[in-house]
Amino acid sequence: MATILRTLSYKYQWFYDGISNLAALAVGGENRFRNLALEQLPIDKNTEVLDLCCGAGQTTKILAQYSDRVTGLDASPVALTRAQRNVPNARYIEGLAQNMPLESERFDLVHSSVALHEMNPDELQQIFQEVYRVLKPGGVFAFIDFHKPTNGLFWPPLALFMWLFETQTAWQLLQTDLLAKLEETGFKIARHKLYVGGSLQVAQAKK
Ligand SMILES: C[S@@+](CC[C@H](N)C(=O)[O-])C[C@H]1O[C@@H](n2cnc3c(N)ncnc32)[C@H](O)[C@@H]1O
Repeated sequence: MATILRTLSYKYQWFYDGISNLAALAVGGENRFRNLALEQLPIDKNTEVLDLCCGAGQTTKILAQYSDRVTGLDASPVALTRAQRNVPNARYIEGLAQNMPLESERFDLVHSSVALHEMNPDELQQIFQEVYRVLKPGGVFAFIDFHKPTNGLFWPPLALFMWLFETQTAWQLLQTDLLAKLEETGFKIARHKLYVGGSLQVAQAKK
């Protein structure tokens, strides 16, 4: 599924960022959107942070304002080149989220914004295991992504967005109980909040 707009959004960063800015108005704007998953987390200059599936560094930029120890990981060399240019004060690693080329128990915080919906349920399970592995004991996994709306009025705008920009895995994510998967992996859910009629979720899970 998806349309040519998905291809264009990955090809042109200005287009991706424009769509992201527009969608973020639903929660009060891009800056609030990029901070939602980080709310109430104690991040300081020494916090070891991994921005998982960092893309062009859209949230890496925010993370790098809080910490001097931010690493971005993405499978796409094009995205990493952009991230390096946009946020030069973070380090970057090319790799798959389901098999990260990173040592165990390295990070205090693993963050991921609007990327889990790109994975199928089996990949998600592998990714959660990998996130658990690279987190220090007591470390936190925080993410923001789509969720099945709890208010029916929000189905049409979400469905339109998904039809224009997303693939089958995003629809699968709506049917997936991410909290149960996290708990199966060994995480304790510390926070789970829904926004925009339930169509957006933020979770923070502790190792
Ligand atoms: C929708 S973008 C999100 C980018 C950014 N985090 C943001 O908030 O805008 C999804 C990103 O996930 C990356 N990605 C998709 N599958 C991946 C995987 N299996 N491992 C690592 N990165 C992946 C893509 O290359 C892309 O940069």
